[in-house]
Amino acid sequence: MMQIDFHAHILPGADHGSDGLATSLRQIALAQEAGIGLLIATPHFYPRHEALGPFLARRAETYACLTEALPADAPRIRLGAEVQLCRGLDRLPDLERLCVEGTRVLLLELPPDFSVRAYEQTLDALLYERKLTVVLAHVDRYVPGTVDFLLELGFLAQINAAPFCRLRTRKAALRRAESVQTVALGSDIHGVSTGYTEFLQMKRRLGPVCDVVMARTAALLGL
Ligand SMILES: [Fe+2]
Repeated sequence: MMQIDFHAHILPGADHGSDGLATSLRQIALAQEAGIGLLIATPHFYPRHEALGPFLARRAETYACLTEALPADAPRIRLGAEVQLCRGLDRLPDLERLCVEGTRVLLLELPPDFSVRAYEQTLDALLYERKLTVVLAHVDRYVPGTVDFLLELGFLAQINAAPFCRLRTRKAALRRAESVQTVALGSDIHGVSTGYTEFLQMKRRLGPVCDVVMARTAALLGL
């Protein structure tokens, strides 16, 4: 089963995930050692603070810089973004360009001030007017009740590796990974200090469930 890291900050200088080409190449080498076959590059996009045009230009530029330097046997990389929800996000022209390349799958991060009441119109429109498939980034970080509510509405979930590695959060993460709405796992790698050690520990904790989730990711991406 192809191992897919659905959430990775690996574009050199695109955000605080990598300070340059050497860091990005090291991150990707670590991913390869961990058996990752496909990385979704998901630089942060904060629509409250940046227009889409400059973000897309920076992403394209940093991606080109990376691909030129990648070894031939490196894991495959597809472009995406980690998009922070803001009110009116659904009205952003070209929102589709933030989806994982070749799909209508958007990785969405909830803002610190999130409440269902404040964002319900935007959330509703993302699903039912823009007709996007919305994967909530690192659902392990949010209040479980909020996540459950959103999953019931049709949102999907991505879980980070970190909660599988902590006693306090492991059980909830394992339980959530089994749910059919959990379609992706991610290192959420920033820099190289943690590397893929947590991702590998997550794989061990999940056992056969890891490949079940990876199969859901592959289906989501049309692989
Ligand atoms: Fe992230």
